[in-house]
Amino acid sequence: MAASGSGGFLAVSLLSWCCAARVLGHPDSPPPPLVIWHGMGDSCCNPLSMGAVKKMVEKQLPGIYVLSLEIGKNMVEDVENSFFLNVNSQVRIVCEILAKDPKLQQGYNAIGFSQGGQFLRAVAQRCPLPSMMNLISVGGQQQGVFGLPRCPGESSHICDFIRKTLNAGAYSKVVQKRLVQAEYWHDPIKEDVYRNHSIFLADINQERSVNESYKKNLMALKKFVMVKFLNDSIVDPVVSEWFGFYRSGQAKETVPLQETTLYTEDRLGLKEMDKAGKLVFLATEGDHLQLNEEWFYAHIIPFLK
Ligand SMILES: *[C@@H]1O[C@H](CO)[C@@H](O)[C@H](O)[C@H]1NC(C)=O
Ligand SMILES: *[C@@H]1O[C@H](CO)[C@@H](O)[C@H](O)[C@H]1NC(C)=O
Ligand SMILES: *[C@@H]1O[C@H](CO)[C@@H](O)[C@H](O)[C@H]1NC(C)=O
Repeated sequence: MAASGSGGFLAVSLLSWCCAARVLGHPDSPPPPLVIWHGMGDSCCNPLSMGAVKKMVEKQLPGIYVLSLEIGKNMVEDVENSFFLNVNSQVRIVCEILAKDPKLQQGYNAIGFSQGGQFLRAVAQRCPLPSMMNLISVGGQQQGVFGLPRCPGESSHICDFIRKTLNAGAYSKVVQKRLVQAEYWHDPIKEDVYRNHSIFLADINQERSVNESYKKNLMALKKFVMVKFLNDSIVDPVVSEWFGFYRSGQAKETVPLQETTLYTEDRLGLKEMDKAGKLVFLATEGDHLQLNEEWFYAHIIPFLK
């Protein structure tokens, strides 16, 4: 039920993609493989969301190998895990899948949709082999979220439950271990509590200490592309999709990445990447994940060639 309902949010914009395929000229060698990771309440293979993305990429880039990640034994588990399986375990599972896949060993590109965007960044930072070439975060919340105004799709029971739990105690041990969205919950008013107790986001964003290998591995990317949805009504604050966040101590005013200490102290190498032209900030009109086919073709496909 969750799967078919949650697929709906991508359906409208994706349906038109299927019928406008433009076959490119055959390149000399096939494009690098592509790994995609779906968002909250979605699954690897919903024909209306990731299934459609996969097909569309395959049509635009003939011969490409696309792996749409499935976390669990089937689509139902995959959807459940997007809410309830510890993200650190999910990242570990994905690292194993990638390490075992013979087609990926020469390197791959990656696209993460929504929370899949920050999860794939964790993969880049924690698992340098096989190597990720370009990372494309489509509506990913790189600095987390502080609020869950709406969930995508129709899984509203789960959504209400999650919202209540987050508001009640996102940083309690039990909630941290079991609720995915708590693991990238970022309370700007209690920044020290977030820093000490967030088991996922505070770790990959080097809030407690600097892991030099995270920095080195992230900087090994060719490009880190971040797509922000200008009319996003789901992500709070939207600037998190460009690695910005609320200014510390309050939850009204936001600051861009360049004004965060993560950047100025360059704990993650983002400043150096920015200076080297490796960070790409893209914006598109529309609500969360409402990708338009023409836009995707013009702005994302070039990174996959
Ligand atoms: C840094 O990250 C790597 C990769 O996840 C891990 O193996 C290592 O233990 C971490 N180092 C520290 C000091 O936490
Ligand atoms: C966070 O951890 C630091 C260092 O262990 C400690 O001094 C501080 O009191 C902690 N703050 C909170 C709110 O947990
Ligand atoms: C989306 O947001 C942009 C930038 O804020 C604005 O110019 C545009 O009118 C909005 N579009 C819709 C359909 O709301």
